[in-house]
Amino acid sequence: MNPKIKDRVETLRLELHRHNHRYFVLDDPEISDAEYDRMMQELIVLESEWPELASPDSPSVRVGSPPLEKFQSVTRTRPMLSLDKGFGEADFISFDQRVKKGLGVNDEIYYTAEPKIDGVAVELVYENGTLVMASTRGDGETGEVVTANVKTIPTVPLVLQQVEDASMPDLLELRGEIFLSKSNFQSLNSDQMSRGLPLFANPRNAAAGSLRQLDSRITSLRPLEIYIYGVGDSESIKAHSHADALMTLKRMGLRVNPLVRPKILSNDVIAYYHEIDQMRDSLPYEIDGIVIKVDSFSYQETLGSTSRRPKWAIAVKFEATQETTRIIDISVQVGRTGAMTPVADLEPVNIAGVSVSRATLHNEDEVFKKDIRIGDRVFVRRAGDVIPEVVKVITSARNGAEKPFQMPKKCPVCDADAVRLHGESVTRCTNIACPAQIKATIRHFASKGAFDIEGLGEKLIDQLVDLKLISSCADIFHLTADSLQKLDRMGPKSADNLIKAIENRKRISFHRFLFGLGIRHVGEHAAKILSGAFQNLSELEKTTGPQLEAIDGIGPVVAASISIFFSQEENRRIIQRLIDGGVTIIYDAPRVFKNKLSGKSFVLTGTLESLSRSQAKTLIEGAGGKVSGSVSRKTDYVVAGESPGSKLEAARELGVPVLNESEFKALVSADT
Ligand code: IVH
Repeated sequence: MNPKIKDRVETLRLELHRHNHRYFVLDDPEISDAEYDRMMQELIVLESEWPELASPDSPSVRVGSPPLEKFQSVTRTRPMLSLDKGFGEADFISFDQRVKKGLGVNDEIYYTAEPKIDGVAVELVYENGTLVMASTRGDGETGEVVTANVKTIPTVPLVLQQVEDASMPDLLELRGEIFLSKSNFQSLNSDQMSRGLPLFANPRNAAAGSLRQLDSRITSLRPLEIYIYGVGDSESIKAHSHADALMTLKRMGLRVNPLVRPKILSNDVIAYYHEIDQMRDSLPYEIDGIVIKVDSFSYQETLGSTSRRPKWAIAVKFEATQETTRIIDISVQVGRTGAMTPVADLEPVNIAGVSVSRATLHNEDEVFKKDIRIGDRVFVRRAGDVIPEVVKVITSARNGAEKPFQMPKKCPVCDADAVRLHGESVTRCTNIACPAQIKATIRHFASKGAFDIEGLGEKLIDQLVDLKLISSCADIFHLTADSLQKLDRMGPKSADNLIKAIENRKRISFHRFLFGLGIRHVGEHAAKILSGAFQNLSELEKTTGPQLEAIDGIGPVVAASISIFFSQEENRRIIQRLIDGGVTIIYDAPRVFKNKLSGKSFVLTGTLESLSRSQAKTLIEGAGGKVSGSVSRKTDYVVAGESPGSKLEAARELGVPVLNESEFKALVSADT
């Protein structure tokens, strides 16, 4: 083999490891995502052409590997311990007293405190700086080996960085928590829902389910994250305290929670507990308390552990986000797409400081799967600003009087027929003029992430629609102070204020505009991606499904939904009426999505699985590239599908890079 190729592969690996660390751990990238993708792509192509160069610590393992039959188990010499649990200040104060007594000291001692993330505990083993094994906690002593899966997580370094003043330990056993952020949990569940798959009850279950996939390629699609919170054996790291050890681990490239508060005295621990409790809802991930650890390793050793728990640490939990109550009734709410959502009316219950009297039941299948009946005692969960949900029925509390729920055959608002299409889990009202749908669409349009129109809340929208002053979001921009006088309790002053608030929001950023339209499956995140990928609205309107799908972060469901939205006359009419009403879209600085392949020439050979040849051609041309019929030295890429012809051989001979279908898609999609 050409030694230059080996060199190139090694350089790419080193660079990719470095950029990965800068991006995911330091949050300070040096190169664009597209440059990163190109390097990764080049590495994948080289590794597939020269399999003898394969290596288990190559950054390309992030994309996953073929499925396992079952997980191996591992028995560890140093078990992963659990923690003593307490609630509130008092339990920490008695812990502090126990610790001091155990140490025989009267003075204050130093603790390190950190959030207790509600995820899945794992052990990572690094030998001479290379990740060799990852396992779940299991019963503490015996866990399951999930190495291939953990390697797909971008924040897990495959190789550690050398730290100047410390030698790399031969063996380093690390402990940490793998989790899914709240927002990624929500997107995962809406994706599961749109594919008719079962929902996950909470981010922790979703993280556990994603980590325990026999096919690591599935894990690689789940945006798992990690925070490392300790070492299995404190001898292996040159540090005298927990906080110092975490600092060293951080310098080795491991991700340590930035909210760790090192070396604090008991008073500050109490302040920290309240501080983190206050932040709880606004943190991007779920936590259920804080963990407080005696900082000094020699103190930890003096205190020791029982067979299950260290005596030098305690978890102090926050109020539970889950409580039990009773379902008084189940009603049905109609959303902006006509989706009829069953909602449980509950006996009000206080969950972490908020009174909850309604909880979503998602859809008919969920009600049946969880066997939820009217009159049941249930567990209800609330996390941050998400809608409370019924998690589980307490079947042992039934008395026989509970009534099963039936999805109504008619829309409860307009009495039109309700249908549930084959293969979908959602029942919908079929009347596009249904006032409930119109109201929900307008509520969404005026909501915070979209047009954010001050004062235009639910009650006012209901009145405006009921009095037929508006029948679409576009009508809002044609309202006058005079017409508003018809409303209840609307004096000239408030009418004026509302008109001013509407006027204020006429200049709107592209992504808010797109989000506000309420295109199915286009949430705030997708709207931002689209606004970055297109120069303007008319360019987006003209783009076809496969071109949309080629954009990083836009899947087939979203792409199809956008195409359908813009193909409908009524939607185009509403957009025109918005513009006529004075709405001006403010575009982001344009990015050169269009021309990213300009000057590049492609040859297609064989059959692609998910794209026809003409779709592939549209994609290439849409991005400024050319497609030609035969391979020459001037060809930049050959795209090879199933049963390729002699063009593939020609490419190999001439040294033209060959892309498979997914590499091709990755290339046409990177968004710079
Ligand atoms: S320390 C010997 N620190 O909580 C100390 N645990 O019951 C062992 N957890 O399953 C744990 N965040 O996965 C520690 N910052 C943190 C943590 C943490 C979450 C989990 C851990 C374990 C459970 C303890």
